[in-house]
Amino acid sequence: MKIAILGATGLVGRTMLNLIEGRPWVTGDPVLLSSDRGAGTKLDFNGRSLECREVSANSFQDVDVALFSAGGRTSKTWAPVAAGAGAWVVDNSSAFRMTEGVPLVVPEINGQLVSWPEGNSGGIIANPNCSTIQIAMAVAPLDQAFGVTEAHVTTLQAVSGAGQAAVVELEHQEQGRPANNDGAFDRQIFRNAIPAIGDGLEDGSYEEETKVVRELRKILGRSADLAVSCTATRVPVVTGHSAAVRLVCDKPVDLKQAATVLSRFPGVEIDPDPHGFLTPLEVAGTTTVHVGRLRKDPDNPHALLMWVVADNLLKGAAWNAVQIAELLAGESPQ
Ligand SMILES: NC(=O)c1ccc[n+]([C@@H]2O[C@H](COP(=O)([O-])OP(=O)(O)OC[C@H]3O[C@@H](n4cnc5c(N)ncnc54)[C@H](OP(=O)(O)O)[C@@H]3O)[C@@H](O)[C@H]2O)c1
Repeated sequence: MKIAILGATGLVGRTMLNLIEGRPWVTGDPVLLSSDRGAGTKLDFNGRSLECREVSANSFQDVDVALFSAGGRTSKTWAPVAAGAGAWVVDNSSAFRMTEGVPLVVPEINGQLVSWPEGNSGGIIANPNCSTIQIAMAVAPLDQAFGVTEAHVTTLQAVSGAGQAAVVELEHQEQGRPANNDGAFDRQIFRNAIPAIGDGLEDGSYEEETKVVRELRKILGRSADLAVSCTATRVPVVTGHSAAVRLVCDKPVDLKQAATVLSRFPGVEIDPDPHGFLTPLEVAGTTTVHVGRLRKDPDNPHALLMWVVADNLLKGAAWNAVQIAELLAGESPQ
């Protein structure tokens, strides 16, 4: 399949490019795209140096799969153009995630939604929010086993989740230098924690929290019968999101069974010791979702608590998107 990457110069785009190196389903060199700022940037692919170009109406000719990670506004402009040219867009932004008819896919959970329709016409598949992906991976097997009725989440999200400029901002604050970008964060992030990600909404939540609530329900095929709450925080970690999760279930929870279903779920690793856990530093660079601190709520036999960590640039973004492309490759009529 001919691949394009829009946002190829960004943190997620570069990670995607690394991940597709050597994949047998990638035909020729990928088309690397950015805005006019990144045009001309040279990026390595399979030992060769490829040049990134400014995205244009002609960028998607002959492209089978276009991996988008250039923000919501860019996706709204270019995803219909790419899909109209016959490509499948796997979109990392929030632009189409809640659009009816657009599948929101975590391959291990609902990969069956990915199919290449007759006539080889393109379309849009949405990649979920980075925190939502790892939370959904841990909740899905427990939902199957015990019927989850409530999910209450507090996230601790790495700065790389806000892009390259945010990583630079943390580095500058660590070095005591003034920020030299247009300010990824409203408050100091170094030695701090900020309980606000995205715009503040009328109901008192922030955008990121609403994404977790809505997207978790959509991925699990649930509606308001699944009560979800989320407090999303940004912490001075470079890579790796963490989430403290409390679930309430229909059935009383058996801890051994919970550990077993999690260990059998593809893409999830579990430390069954209630005192066991991994940290963001330890999962950075891996594609798995790690569950630790798995324990029962002492006051409620239907409730359990856990700590869920994953690399936000890999399973939270680029790896999940490449897995979707891989599903398309299996379905591709070519
Ligand atoms: N970082 C994460 O953990 C994560 C996780 C899930 C989803 N996402 C989503 O993925 C997207 C990118 O994230 P990132 O972390 O890679 O951000 P980033 O490091 O800031 O990179 C942004 C990329 O988008 C390109 N871009 C920006 N405006 C553009 C425009 N008008 N036209 C064409 N290209 C444009 C940039 O190109 P230039 O070089 O030309 O500026 C750059 O390649 C966002 O939608 C984000 O919400 C990120």
